[in-house]
This record gives sequence, structure tokens and C-alpha cells, in this order.
Amino acid sequence: MKARASVLLLAVAVWSQEPTPRQRATSAITDLGRVLQQLLSEEMKQGGYAGAVKSCAENAQVATEEFSRERGLEIRRVSLKYRNPKDAPDEWETQHLKAWARQAEAGEAAAPVEETVTENGRRFLRVLKPITLQAVCLGCHGPANQIGADVREALNAHYPRDKATGYKVGELRGAFSAVVPLP
Ligand code: HEC
Repeated sequence: MKARASVLLLAVAVWSQEPTPRQRATSAITDLGRVLQQLLSEEMKQGGYAGAVKSCAENAQVATEEFSRERGLEIRRVSLKYRNPKDAPDEWETQHLKAWARQAEAGEAAAPVEETVTENGRRFLRVLKPITLQAVCLGCHGPANQIGADVREALNAHYPRDKATGYKVGELRGAFSAVVPLP
């Protein structure tokens, strides 16, 4: 009886604790990943790959910005070979994305990066988590022979400077990048 009560107390104590900045960043990354995956699968059900390109062009940034606002932190996706110029990495992100690319050449897998940085006198926790390419992504990010003519046409219409094709399964596509203000 006594043991049960203390387990309950412990559970309440853990539950009522404020999440740490690190927990806020990592759960935001997991949850945004789910939000975007859900969005993509609904769009593909309705409009196939080409239709999904069109709705992604309209919705992916909006959904990401809304999610950021809701969580009270900055989160987005970035890539050295970005499709949307808004996903171009900043200096800190570029440095780590390039380090991961060098590791990949050496056969090493990319591991998430966490760093406390000071910008304009304020401290932030920055977290960068790798995104790798899966088979389902090939129709929109794969080599030219894997991308349908209608998909290519939709990509050209929305992203005339698209850099985000030619990927193979397992390759590093980019990263989730989260920035949490520290007290
Ligand atoms: C139906 C086509 C389609 C599929 C399938 C698709 N993507 Fe994309 N992807 C896009 C479009 C369109 C954008 C640009 C969205 C925007 O404007 O913000 C994009 C952007 C991205 C970005 C942000 C960086 C950038 O290039 O702008 C990442 C990372 C990404 N995709 C990863 C993936 C991964 C991983 C998969 C598979 C799980 C995948 N995508 C499947 C169409 C697709």
C-alpha cells in the first residue's frame, strides 16, 4: 500500500515537472516529423505524387510555422541541397550538415547535434537531427528516372531552382533544426 502511494507521488512529481529545453526541442522534432508525414500521406492519397507536390508547396511551410508558434520555439527543416530556398541552412547548420556529409563519405552515420550558443547576448539551445531518405521519398527526391513526368512538371512550376533530387535510399537528405531560448 505504502509502496503504491509513493509510486503515485513519484508519477505526479515527474508529470508536473516542466520539460527541459532539451526535451522541448527533441519532442518538437519528433512531433513535427509526424505532422509533416501525416500531411504528405493525406496529400498523396488525394493527388498522388504530383498532386502532393502542389499541396506541399502550399502547406509545408505554413504547417511548420504554425507548429513553431504553438510550441514557442523555432523549428524548421534545412538541407544543403534544398528544394525550397526558405530551407537554406544558416552558418551553424551548414557547418554541421557538411561535417555529416564528410562522415558519410567515411562510412559513419550522422548523429544528432546539441549545442548551447549565444547570439546577440542571448543563449539558445540548438538541436539538429538528421533526416535520411526512404524508398517512399524517391518519387520526389530520387534520381531523374524515378521521378514521373507529371511530378517533374509540378516541381519545375513551384521550385524552378530545385536542388533536392538525385538522392538514394539511406542518404542524408537534410535535418530538423530546433532553437529553444534559454533563461
Ligand atoms: C510528393 C512529393 C514528395 C515526397 C514523396 C517527399 N517529399 Fe520532401 N519535399 C517535397 C516538396 C515539394 C518539398 C518542399 C516543401 C516546401 O516548399 O517547404 C520537400 C521538402 C523536403 C525537405 C526540406 C528541405 C528542402 O529540400 O526544402 C526535406 C528534409 C524533405 N523534403 C525530406 C523528405 C523525405 C525524407 C521524404 C520521404 C520520407 C520526402 N521528403 C518525401 C516533396 C516530396
